[in-house]
Amino acid sequence: MSKLLFSPIKIGNIEFKNRIFMSPMCQYSASDGLVNDWHTIHYASRAVGGVGAVIVEATAAEPNGRITPFDLGIYNAEQTDAFKEMIETIKKHVNDVKIGLQLAHAGRKGSKDVPWKKEKALSKAEGGYDIIAPSAIAFNELYAVPKEMKKDDMEYVFNSFVNAAKNALKAGFDFLEIHMAHGYLLHEFLSPITNKRQDEYGGSFENRIKFPLDIAEAVRKTASDVPVFVRISAIDWIEGGWDIAQSVKFAKILKEIVIQLIDVSSGGLADVPINADYGFQSKFSKIIKDEAEINTSSVGLIVNPYQAEHILASGQANIVMLGRALLANPYWAVQAAEVLGVDIEWPNQYARAKNILRN
Ligand SMILES: Cc1cc2nc3c(=O)[nH]c(=O)nc-3n(C[C@H](O)[C@H](O)[C@H](O)COP(=O)(O)O)c2cc1C
Repeated sequence: MSKLLFSPIKIGNIEFKNRIFMSPMCQYSASDGLVNDWHTIHYASRAVGGVGAVIVEATAAEPNGRITPFDLGIYNAEQTDAFKEMIETIKKHVNDVKIGLQLAHAGRKGSKDVPWKKEKALSKAEGGYDIIAPSAIAFNELYAVPKEMKKDDMEYVFNSFVNAAKNALKAGFDFLEIHMAHGYLLHEFLSPITNKRQDEYGGSFENRIKFPLDIAEAVRKTASDVPVFVRISAIDWIEGGWDIAQSVKFAKILKEIVIQLIDVSSGGLADVPINADYGFQSKFSKIIKDEAEINTSSVGLIVNPYQAEHILASGQANIVMLGRALLANPYWAVQAAEVLGVDIEWPNQYARAKNILRN
C-alpha cells in the first residue's frame, strides 16, 4: 500500500526516499565543537532506523555562537574533517539517507551549561564566553546580558555563516538548514520583543528581517548546489511579538531567494507558556504552505504513524520532522512502515525482523 509518509520527495536536486526527517536536536556532547563517537552512533542509529533524512543538531558558525561549550561547531578545518568522517561512516552503511546540517548562532541564549546540569549562565572561569544579540536584553535572570551587536559584530557573524556553509559543503552535507527559530540570534533579530535597535536593522518588519535575510542569501549563494531550508518560530506566543502574518510574509521573501523549505516550529524567544499538544504546530505549517506556496515541514509532538500520515494527507506539510519520538525509538520509521502496511527496504542484516512486531 502506498502512503505519503513513504513516498519520495524531490527538493532542489535531491530526492529524499521518504518524508520522515530527524529534527535537529542538540546533544551537548562535544568538546571544541568536534563530532565524536557519540554523534556518529546517535545519527547512524536513526539512519539505520529508516528516516529519509537526518538533520544534525544546531551547529555553531562561530565559537561564541554555541549554546553551551559542548555544542558542535563548524568554524574550523578540524571540525569539518570530523563531520566528513561521520558522514562517510554513516553513508558507507546506509547509502540512501540524506544528511543535513543546522547552521546556528545562539545569540543571547549562549554560554550556558548543559541543560541537565547548572541552570545559570557560565562565568568565564567556568568556561563561559561573551554573548551578543541585537539588543542588550537578557533572556531571563539565569542568563547573562548580551552585548548589543555593532556593525563589525554583524559583519563577523555574517562571514562566520558563509565560512560555516563552505565548511559544511566540504564535509559533504547533502543540504543545509539555517536556524532562525527558538529565540536564538537570527530569531532575536526577527522579533520586535528582542530587537529594539534604532538602526536600519530594527523597527519595521523590513528592517528586522534584513540581517537574517542577508545571511540566508549569502548561505544560499555559497551553497548553490544543495537545498537550503530555514527553521522559523511561526509565532512567539507573545502579544505584540513575531506572528503568523509576519511568518507568511517572510516565507514569501525566502522563497524568492530560493530557500526551498520552511521548517515550521514556534516559541523559544522568551520564558512564556506554550500550548503544546499532539501536532500543535501543524496548523502554522499549513498556513505558511498554503499562503506562501512553499514546501514546509511540521514538527512538534508528532509521535504516531497515523498522525504523521494525516498531517501529510491533509496538506498541512510536505515533510514531518520528529524529535523526541526518534530519541525514544531510533527505529520509528521502519516500525511506522509496518504499522501502515508499507513494504520498505530494511538493512539486509535486519531483514528477518520484518513483520515480527505485527502479530
Ligand atoms: C534534546 C533536544 C534538543 C534540541 N535541539 C534542537 C536544535 O539543536 N535545533 C532545533 O532547531 N531544535 C532543537 N530541539 C527542538 C526539536 O528539534 C523539536 O523541534 C522539538 O523537540 C519538538 O518536536 P518533538 O515534539 O518531535 O520533540 C531540541 C529538542 C530536544 C528534545
